[in-house]
Amino acid sequence: MTDLATKLSVAAGAVFESMGLDAELGQVRRSDRPDLADFQCNGAMVAGKRAKKNPREVAAEVAPKIEALDFVESVDVAGPGFLNIKVSAQALQERAAQVLTDPQSGGGKVETPRHVMMDFGGWNVAKPMHIGHLRSTIIGDSLQRLFRFLGDDVVSDVHLGDWGLQMGLLIVGVSEEQPDLPYFDADFDGEYPSESPVSMDDLERLYPLYAGMMKEESVVETVEDGKSVFKKVPNPAYREEIRSLAQTATADLQAGRRGYRALWKHFCDVTQIGLERECGELGVKFDLWKGESDANVLLPEITEDLKSRNIAVLSEGAWVIHIERESDKKDMPPFMLVNSQGAVGYHATDLGTILDRKRTNKPDLTLYVVDARQALHFEQVFRAAQLAGYENEDALEHIGFGTMNGKDGKPFKTREGGVLKLYDFISQAKDKARERLEETGMGADYPAEERADIADKVALAAIKFADLSNVRTKNYVFDLDQFVAFEGKTGPYLLYAAVRVKSLMRRAKEEGIQAGEIKIELKEERALALQLDAFETALKLAYENRTPHGVCDHVYTLAQAFSSFWTNAPILKAGVPDEVKASRLALAQATLKQLEAGLYLIGIETPERM
Ligand code: ARG
Repeated sequence: MTDLATKLSVAAGAVFESMGLDAELGQVRRSDRPDLADFQCNGAMVAGKRAKKNPREVAAEVAPKIEALDFVESVDVAGPGFLNIKVSAQALQERAAQVLTDPQSGGGKVETPRHVMMDFGGWNVAKPMHIGHLRSTIIGDSLQRLFRFLGDDVVSDVHLGDWGLQMGLLIVGVSEEQPDLPYFDADFDGEYPSESPVSMDDLERLYPLYAGMMKEESVVETVEDGKSVFKKVPNPAYREEIRSLAQTATADLQAGRRGYRALWKHFCDVTQIGLERECGELGVKFDLWKGESDANVLLPEITEDLKSRNIAVLSEGAWVIHIERESDKKDMPPFMLVNSQGAVGYHATDLGTILDRKRTNKPDLTLYVVDARQALHFEQVFRAAQLAGYENEDALEHIGFGTMNGKDGKPFKTREGGVLKLYDFISQAKDKARERLEETGMGADYPAEERADIADKVALAAIKFADLSNVRTKNYVFDLDQFVAFEGKTGPYLLYAAVRVKSLMRRAKEEGIQAGEIKIELKEERALALQLDAFETALKLAYENRTPHGVCDHVYTLAQAFSSFWTNAPILKAGVPDEVKASRLALAQATLKQLEAGLYLIGIETPERM
């Protein structure tokens, strides 16, 4: 099944080819002037330029041949040689009817499905779950839904940050607060008991507390002459020995000290339980809950291998891989395999993870949905993987994204300037959604439980749509008031649009109206059918460029096209002939189906009513 845009491009391409020209020239796109045409083609312009012929002449030659196609109604030559193409109502009717029965809702499928690994989430054990990881989770989830929908076999991995200095730091913290725990005995050889000595709250308190002790100075903000001034002052909490204690504990943990491993396992489990709950709330599922630590078992083998092949070399006591290339325009620091203290870090665990995945999942492609500020890190890791021969660097892609800022233009914080916890962030959005629903009076007479469920869905739609509708790589300002609004290009607007169609369906059912054959007559019907046709191309582009905002744009334009259709093409009104009602109802059904499919791809669930 193909969309009309593709069908037309192929057929127009054949026309160009029959004239000894390039088939590529037949490429059409949706017209910017829907009043004049459905599609436009600039091929004659290009061909004219290439052959040093008047483009209008080329256009005049091509136009009748395209017009002769059975699914084309008319072709006009405009301006210096543009082709303005209108497809037949029959073709649009058939296409809309297809969307209604197609399991893909007209979204298409990839030709050759691949095994795709998606590394996103990237939450850290014990560190507060902050907004940067939320973006990764939302964008990554949308991409995993999109890739799966189009037929790829996707495995998603949260890649928990569970292996750095923060682990040693926590061990130190717990050892000071609960020194009597058996885990600290050097010869601890007990099993891993089921009861955790620490809760998530403990971890979230301990981590910043002990991280604070590692800093000699802290920054304080004072207000002088109405301006805020930042000053460095000696940190009263500073404890000189903490860093080295944490380093030793980390090294011992990595070397396999049993008590530390058992305690560390508790940290990971407690964090994972909390995260799984929050991801559940967000409607995000990961196939794998692996972490940086899973690469650990492979690291001795990797270091041996790379040393023996002289890929890793000794430099100032550290084992590094030189990855710079002649074509480099910027500085390319070496890849750090083992540092001068003998410890492995973020580079090494990522390289180990690549080898692990190569062996267990055999991906054709791996996407890393991680903050754009880590671009250098991934460049280094990918080059090292290529040099080592563990993975082809073309099969590894960093999908970077910008920061989510507060209204002050700075990274989103709590009102007090602290790191905003994911849980609190979502609660704030839910409160705001509840407020908004109350103001509008929506669902005022529904049971309390249903109202709460609607508010939750509105909040998540607001957060996800706001995030995904931006060009991924850009920073954006998170404005809760604006995003929870039911007007404008927002998630709640789209939910409302979908719910309106659902309520229309219910009323049509009550009145015994049944969907029937689609007949395109009004210009609003034509516009809606063309929009339904555009889903396939929208998904294709979003897929190729890894840009969920393309899906957002599509669902938004679809909702708008439906809105004009709804105003001008009544279904329930008395006096409308039965077959017209039946046709319009079928168009509405196709719209709802595609709208829900599109919203699903951006992780948004619609309530039955609002
Ligand atoms: N935990 C890391 C951080 O907070 C992100 C992990 C991203 N994924 C990866 N394979 N490096 O920065």
